[in-house]
Amino acid sequence: MVNQIKRENFSGKLGIIAAAAGSAIGLGNIWKFPYITGVYGGSAFILVYLFCIALIGIPVMLSEFIVGRNAQKNAVGSFKKIAPGTPWFFTGFIGVIAAYVILSFYGIVAGWTLQYVFLAITNQFSGLTPDQIGGNFGAFISKPGLPIFWQVIFMAVTASVVIGGVKKGIERFSKILMPILLVIIIILVFRSVTLKGASKGLEFLLKPDFSKLTVPAILSALGHAFFSLSLGMGTMITYGSYIKKDENLGQTAIQVTIADTLIALLAGFAIFPAVFAFGIEPSAGPGLVFVTLPNVFNQMPFGAFFALLFFVLLAVAALTSSISILECVVAYTDEELGWDRKKSTVVVALTITILGAILSQGNGILSSLKIPFLIGGKFEMMNIFDWFITLSDQMLPVGGLLIALFVGWGMKQQMVKDEVTSNGKFSFRLYPIFNVLVKVVAPAAIALVFLSSIFGWFK
Ligand code: PHE
Repeated sequence: MVNQIKRENFSGKLGIIAAAAGSAIGLGNIWKFPYITGVYGGSAFILVYLFCIALIGIPVMLSEFIVGRNAQKNAVGSFKKIAPGTPWFFTGFIGVIAAYVILSFYGIVAGWTLQYVFLAITNQFSGLTPDQIGGNFGAFISKPGLPIFWQVIFMAVTASVVIGGVKKGIERFSKILMPILLVIIIILVFRSVTLKGASKGLEFLLKPDFSKLTVPAILSALGHAFFSLSLGMGTMITYGSYIKKDENLGQTAIQVTIADTLIALLAGFAIFPAVFAFGIEPSAGPGLVFVTLPNVFNQMPFGAFFALLFFVLLAVAALTSSISILECVVAYTDEELGWDRKKSTVVVALTITILGAILSQGNGILSSLKIPFLIGGKFEMMNIFDWFITLSDQMLPVGGLLIALFVGWGMKQQMVKDEVTSNGKFSFRLYPIFNVLVKVVAPAAIALVFLSSIFGWFK
């Protein structure tokens, strides 16, 4: 209530797209998408992913924008305002908790990218064998202090942008960082596809082999769609609440989704042609960018320079995403708990950093501490770092499911239409399709994916 008067907005279309695409484009696109594509066999997996994005990603993103802009509030306050006195606000609450958890490990992985920027600048990959590069990565992430050092720097930068607020912080930095990201990735794609032997990598990305498509691949495609589009935890509700009333929400959701998907694909084109050109396996898993790629760069002319570009790209992508995750929690503590932006940012960022620093030890001194997680039909023992990553993987679909149900069933449909059309200014011809997607298709698909990944159906 108190903060209603001074609530900020994005200044215009460009600012919204830069900030929302900045949120969506992150480690998910450049680190995770390529490695799961590599693990699940390439092109066929990409097609399933595109299908999930179009059918479930876009409607859920639009739903988040609708809720946020209609209420002009944070992820929890939005539900309280639109559906007062109902338990719907729990949806936002799950989101804020998911944001908190995600940022704790996201900051750690982002810190790894800074260490790799440093290694690239000081030319420390050259002369190493593939085994040494792999060993160094393992040794680095299991160190007690060094990952935290970089995490603290990364979180401090994130917090200093969020303290600046919506226009002067988030929008301003996104508008600077996103074009940089685009230029770097285009240079890298160009370098990769012009290498001798790149064509095998292109084939891997473009020629679908459906025999490689497994059920776990499909589950992972949908799960990743949520992560990559920043859905299910209220980030897009929060950003939606900063969109002015006369902007076209449907168009915005589509543009942000296209930008996110394009960058993920470009990351694939920057990575796989080079990986194949040097005869390296594409299925390295999470180590793909931190182990496989330094090897690739080592064998490339001017490799140190391209390595530097690549890790700067990763760090920039991570930064605009972490800004949005922090903003999601800060908007909540600011508006619901009544702390001001500065106090919110400092307290939230600090406690998240501490949690992340503890989780990071799961890769090192606490690696023998294993906690069970029900996944794939059995209790799997995981270290605390992996446990929290798995937890957030499960939370996003649950959040997305509830948001779709809320917009499909919980909100007055006239309100939904008025929000998307800005009270008649724009058309919403796809409403009947949207309505079926959020009411039935998205919830059913998400529920199926969620339950089957927990209980290990269709293995
Ligand atoms: N979308 C971001 C990425 O691809 C991560 C993210 C998830 C950001 C959820 C906000 C919310 O890396």
